[in-house]
Amino acid sequence: MKIGVPKEVASDEARVAMTPASAKDLQKLGYDCLIQKDAGKAAGFDDEDYKAAGVNVVSGAAIWKDADVVAKVQPPTEAETAKLAEGQTLISFFYPVANEKLMEIAKSQKANVIAMDMVPRISRAQKMDALSSMANIAGYRAVIEAGNNFGRFFTGQVTAAGKVPPAKVLIVGAGVAGLAAIGTATSLGAITLAFDVRPEVAEQIESMGAEFVYLDFDEAAQDGAATGGYAAPSSPEFREKQLEKFRELAPDVDIVITTALIPNRDAPVLWTKDMVEMMKPGSVIIDLAAERGGNCELTEKDKKIVSDNGVTIVGYTDFPSRMATQSSLLYSTNIRHMMNDLTPDKDGQVNHNMEDDVIRGATVTHAGEITFPPPPPKIAAIAAQPAKEKPKELTPEEKRAAETAAFKAATKSQVTLLAAGGALMVLIGAYAPASFMQHFIVFALACFVGFQVIWNVSHALHTPLMAVTNAISGIVVVGALLQIGSGNLLVVFLSFIGVLIASINIVGGFLVTRRMLAMFQKS
Ligand code: NAI
Repeated sequence: MKIGVPKEVASDEARVAMTPASAKDLQKLGYDCLIQKDAGKAAGFDDEDYKAAGVNVVSGAAIWKDADVVAKVQPPTEAETAKLAEGQTLISFFYPVANEKLMEIAKSQKANVIAMDMVPRISRAQKMDALSSMANIAGYRAVIEAGNNFGRFFTGQVTAAGKVPPAKVLIVGAGVAGLAAIGTATSLGAITLAFDVRPEVAEQIESMGAEFVYLDFDEAAQDGAATGGYAAPSSPEFREKQLEKFRELAPDVDIVITTALIPNRDAPVLWTKDMVEMMKPGSVIIDLAAERGGNCELTEKDKKIVSDNGVTIVGYTDFPSRMATQSSLLYSTNIRHMMNDLTPDKDGQVNHNMEDDVIRGATVTHAGEITFPPPPPKIAAIAAQPAKEKPKELTPEEKRAAETAAFKAATKSQVTLLAAGGALMVLIGAYAPASFMQHFIVFALACFVGFQVIWNVSHALHTPLMAVTNAISGIVVVGALLQIGSGNLLVVFLSFIGVLIASINIVGGFLVTRRMLAMFQKS
């Protein structure tokens, strides 16, 4: 069978659905690859690169006529859909809710349409999840775009020419795009705050070096509870609390990146006109939800505007296309994985298995039928993490009380231990000879002090601690060597055991330390 990729017709679309690298993989699956002349040019892939990868460079008409599978990025136009023939398969973004008419045309043509935006969010399908791979790029690019429009550094600096405070970035919505934006903003050195209605993402946000913005709102009533990895709409009370918090933050933040969205709904307005007015001149808002109306009240779709008080608001909807090489590489890999699942025998023949959760979920028309919406997948969506408890702020009195209680408990256990030890000593002293007792008391004290010192060392410091234990082992070896020449067989034997065990400790310590140091060395 042949798989063909036409040039995108949308004027602002620079991505392409096949790269020379993905073409090689598709050929390994048994397919012949076709591409329209200049289809990859805007993404940085020349016709010569495709030819070198064994792809036939042909006209646009030849793609629609000859290819058994047509792969593209943007949903087809009506004219393109009408070109589909019976049994031909189209794989592209399709947005079936918004494109009912296209579905009707594909149905009447008896063509099979796989919508990349309908790939269910289950673990097995992650490699085909083009919405996520594109949102990841959009999140990254949003921060770069913000930096481009922001007149200052992200990271704080102290230079001879003056002190620069770090930029404060607020990310609203910590889904795929939001997390990518958090990662980029923190790595550039900005102080990053993030908010999401799903409290379970707090841990993820904090692990990336950002601060989760908690709301003073009853957790039980917070209806951001996840449904299959997606958020539920917020109650008016919750939204009010959220806006109140944002109003508090608005004068302080320099950059706001909004990504809040619930699938198949309009974007909630979360950054209102008065919040924009509160922001400092030179601040930047990047509204990734512009496609669905925008999270910022002033956003204009596909435009960059500057408010009266000098706040730049960017509402571009083509961020992945602005990084066309990267996004084409990821999108073409998503397509290649989809083809992999459609070709179980790797024989270059499509097996459109409607029993397969992922293929069924993404198929919107099949064999002259509209198959959208799909039934829910048999496997549950990627499980949401349990909500993290909001850390409880202790008052100074509570802190002092907790410290005193901990001190009392520690003292009590130590006194008990000492009393028991003392009683044992008296008992042994009553029977054992005086010379033995002298050595025994030194030995018991050494154990006690050593235990107290080592037990309280935190795990992170166990490696440096090993250096100390090596020194102790060294002393043990010296002591044992001094005794090993004694005529008493028992003493010789014990000295030998002492040398052996201490040597194991020393050599093992060196080996572990070497391995640890290797972890910090560049290969
Ligand atoms: P996602 O579904 O993974 O994340 C959306 C997040 O918003 C979720 O974590 C959800 O809990 C959160 N959210 C929903 N309602 C909220 C509210 N009221 N307050 C705070 N958080 C809320 O979606 P993904 O893939 O991260 O995409 C995010 C946005 O980026 C979407 O609007 C998508 O269309 C857009 N996008 C824009 C592009 C562009 O070029 N402008 C390109 C790719 C994606």
